[in-house]
Amino acid sequence: MQKNTTVIDHPLVQHKLSLMRKKDTSTQSFRKLIREVGTLLAYEVTKDLPVFYQEIETPLMKMDAPFLEGKKLCLVSILRAGNGLLEGFMDLVPSARVGHIGLYRDPKTLVAVEYYMKLPELINQRLVLALDPMLATGHSSAAAVTRLKENGAKNIRFVCLLAAPEGIEYFNKIHPDVIIYTAAIDKELNDHAYILPGLGDAGDRIFGTK
Ligand code: URA
Repeated sequence: MQKNTTVIDHPLVQHKLSLMRKKDTSTQSFRKLIREVGTLLAYEVTKDLPVFYQEIETPLMKMDAPFLEGKKLCLVSILRAGNGLLEGFMDLVPSARVGHIGLYRDPKTLVAVEYYMKLPELINQRLVLALDPMLATGHSSAAAVTRLKENGAKNIRFVCLLAAPEGIEYFNKIHPDVIIYTAAIDKELNDHAYILPGLGDAGDRIFGTK
C-alpha cells in the first residue's frame, strides 16, 4: 500500500473501471461509466464525514436524527477530465459547491500555468474534494492542489480513477497532508506520461475528441 493512498476496490467500481479501460468502449458508455464510478467514489470518499444530531418528528414520533455537519462540501474539477467525475459526485452531493481549475504545461519551462480558476467562497471552511481521473506524473494535480491551498483550502482530499506509482510518489512529496483516493494503482508511465495499462486519454474518451 502506498503512503497516504486509499484504493477503493469495491467490486462494482472495479467492474466499471474494467469496462472503461477497454479500447472499444464507446464515448457514450465511457461517459456513463465515469459518472457512475464518480458516484461510487463519492460514497466512499465521504464515508467518514462528521454528523450532528437534531430532533425531528417522523409521522410516528420524535427522534434525534443525524445530519451532515459543517459547511457544504466543495468539489473542484481539474479541467477538463475532472468534469467526468464531477457529474457523479454532484449526483450524490447535489448541494455541494463547485469550483474549476484549468492548468496547462508551458512547453518551454514545463511549469504549470493557470488559465482558469473559479472557486466558491469560504473554501477555507469546507472539505474540498479535488477531482482529476488520472494521476500520471502528478505534476498538474499537485499544481492544482497548490492553487487550492493558495486560495485558502485547508482540508483537501484528492480523488482519481487511476494512479501511477510515480504520480503518487510525487504528489505525496508535495502534499503529504492530502489523502489520495483512487480506484486502482497501475503499473507505470510510458515515455509520453500515459498510465500503463491505463485507459488512454481520459479527456478524449469522455468528450469524444479522438
Ligand atoms: N492523462 C490521461 O488522460 N491519461 C493518462 O494515461 C495519463 C494522463
